[in-house]
Amino acid sequence: MRQPIFAANWKMNHAPADAAVFMRTFLAHFGKRQDRSVIFFPPALTFGAVVGALKDRPDILLGVQNIHWEDKGAFTGENSASIARASGAKYVLVGHSERRHVFGETDEQVAKKVASATRAGLTAIVCVGETGAQREAGETTQVVLSQLRAAFAHVTNAEAGNVMVAYEPVWAIGTGKTATPLDASTAHIALRAELGRILDSGSLAVPILYGGSVNRGNAAELLGAPDVDGLLVGGASLDAEGWASIVLT
Ligand code: PGA
Repeated sequence: MRQPIFAANWKMNHAPADAAVFMRTFLAHFGKRQDRSVIFFPPALTFGAVVGALKDRPDILLGVQNIHWEDKGAFTGENSASIARASGAKYVLVGHSERRHVFGETDEQVAKKVASATRAGLTAIVCVGETGAQREAGETTQVVLSQLRAAFAHVTNAEAGNVMVAYEPVWAIGTGKTATPLDASTAHIALRAELGRILDSGSLAVPILYGGSVNRGNAAELLGAPDVDGLLVGGASLDAEGWASIVLT
């Protein structure tokens, strides 16, 4: 079994001073251990404060919530994969449903961001997920597999170690409605099979996380579901003690 991955997506929450306070509490509850990976995704302007707070804890990893696909240039307000990497990020979220639905990010842009991330040495966490209407129409598998194929358009077998997938049903994000462990593993098993078609042997190296209203009460059973390799958590990662208890699940 892979070591479980616990990823905290803070979205647009926690200013630098709040992040420093958060980390003091979190680190007091979470000593170094080899049996799980923890990754934080702070807002870009909070990133440096988190790097500072974690300077004695290289076991805890960092990522950014978004990148532009170009390496540099006249893209006001954006950050590139290489800037993220140079700032201490090892991961980047790509194609999160809020990027797709609030900011209109397309499958093509997602694919370009994934390619740019792997080129710069970042691991891209590709988020896929169906809306409530698509789920009711029985289109879940079709939608998530099509998002997956599009996102992996430029990924080679050799880059399989630099990508992860997060299955995040849109209807479950921030709503308090969680997929059942069966819903999650059904989607994960379909994604794993498709990864096998896209990447051949490399597909087994790709962890698949579940995200969408994960909390202290449901983390253990979701993590225990077949083919769930970790959790991507928004709201429940904002409280240091609560997040520590999820990470110690
Ligand atoms: P949530 O968000 O845990 O608040 O539902 C998850 C995510 O958007 O990654």
